[in-house]
Amino acid sequence: MDFSLVTSEAYREIFQSMSEGIIMVNESGEIALANPVAEQLFGFGRGELTGVTLESLLPERYRKGHVKFRQAFNGDPHPRRMGFGRDLMALRRDGTEFPVEISLSYTQVQGDILVMAFISDISQRKLVEDALRKSEEQLIVYAAELEKKVELRTDALNQTIVKLEQEVSERKKAEEEVRRSFERERELNELKSKFVSIASHEFRTPLSTVMSSVSLIKQYKDRQEYDKQDKHINRVKSSVNQLTQILNDFLSLGKLEEGKVEIQSDPIILQSFLDEIKEEVQSFLKDGQTVTTACPPDLDEIWTDTRTLRNILYNLISNASKYSDAGKQVHVSAESKNSRVFFYVTDEGIGIPADDQKHLFDRFFRASNAGNIQGTGLGLHIVKRYVDLISGEVSFTSTYGKGSTFYFSIPQG
Ligand SMILES: Nc1ncnc2c1ncn2[C@@H]1O[C@H](COP(=O)(O)OP(=O)(O)OP(=O)(O)O)[C@@H](O)[C@H]1O
Ligand SMILES: [Mg+2]
Repeated sequence: MDFSLVTSEAYREIFQSMSEGIIMVNESGEIALANPVAEQLFGFGRGELTGVTLESLLPERYRKGHVKFRQAFNGDPHPRRMGFGRDLMALRRDGTEFPVEISLSYTQVQGDILVMAFISDISQRKLVEDALRKSEEQLIVYAAELEKKVELRTDALNQTIVKLEQEVSERKKAEEEVRRSFERERELNELKSKFVSIASHEFRTPLSTVMSSVSLIKQYKDRQEYDKQDKHINRVKSSVNQLTQILNDFLSLGKLEEGKVEIQSDPIILQSFLDEIKEEVQSFLKDGQTVTTACPPDLDEIWTDTRTLRNILYNLISNASKYSDAGKQVHVSAESKNSRVFFYVTDEGIGIPADDQKHLFDRFFRASNAGNIQGTGLGLHIVKRYVDLISGEVSFTSTYGKGSTFYFSIPQG
């Protein structure tokens, strides 16, 4: 077959000037026609491809397979692209290979099938594609490395954060401890300075009483006025009692603050216990003041810490007497209710102004109507702490100008 197979001049022109290589192959695989671009691609001169077998333009390794492929195509010719999804390689006359892209079509000339292959040399595109793939691969590697680095850094950072958090919480704990010990020290200092100022104030009166009574005792002794002498001896005694009481208060508070007060459970025969206390408080009652006691017969024996209970009642009775006029009565009673023992200390004294009542158990607090009645404001605070120690509760009711009842309850035993 020759050039005259292309029927019209126009087709011939197109065929010649196509930028793709075109090869027409007959059924036995010989090239019937090739355009100049195809000849150039494979390194052949004008007309030299004609008659060459198609397989000789393929690298050796593809040739066998290609014969079968070509026969199959001839049996069912239809236009299509070749080698979709894989690289096709072609062979130049000088034996070098180059990548190609091929589309197939066919035509029939005088009953024979002519297969047309449109061939593009894609070496350049491949180069670019390869370069792109490589840089893409590099990018992926780089991204993976970066990710790894970020991961490592994040781990390190997380560890640092955990460490920092630990440090911060430890530092906070330490600060809290320092703050607490400062606070305790401040409270202790406050207590000490309060003690000094209160002691210097509270000690002055009983001390000056002691001084004047002692010099009077001497005078009365010289004049042999023994009854007056006795009176002043009693004054000295009660002044010393007062001083002892103040010191005891501070000592109790100190021990309570340090948690050094230990309690035990003693059996107490209640009526005789109240009678004893009544005896003891006689020394500080004002002229004409009386203490009455009442204890129901069913409340015979209770179990609690004797010293603590005595201290509480002593403090409450001392207040009842101190904040009542001479000649008034103080009533001390006990009763059993819901497995608890209730104690009441009732007086007919000056009462407590409503505004002051909520502060009554605070350390050093003294009500506004306490005036120049001696006191440190520690007694009730200590009472509250003692009552807590024996699992009790303390409270009071009071009417200003009329009197008060202080009461507390403790477990019966
Ligand atoms: N029975 C009472 N009647 C009226 N006021 C009272 C009575 N008991 C306590 N108060 C008031 O409560 C304040 C606090 O009492 P608390 O016993 O704690 O201290 P104080 O009697 O002043 O001093 P201290 O008992 O330490 O010698 C008193 O100053 C007083 O104003
Ligand atoms: Mg008191």
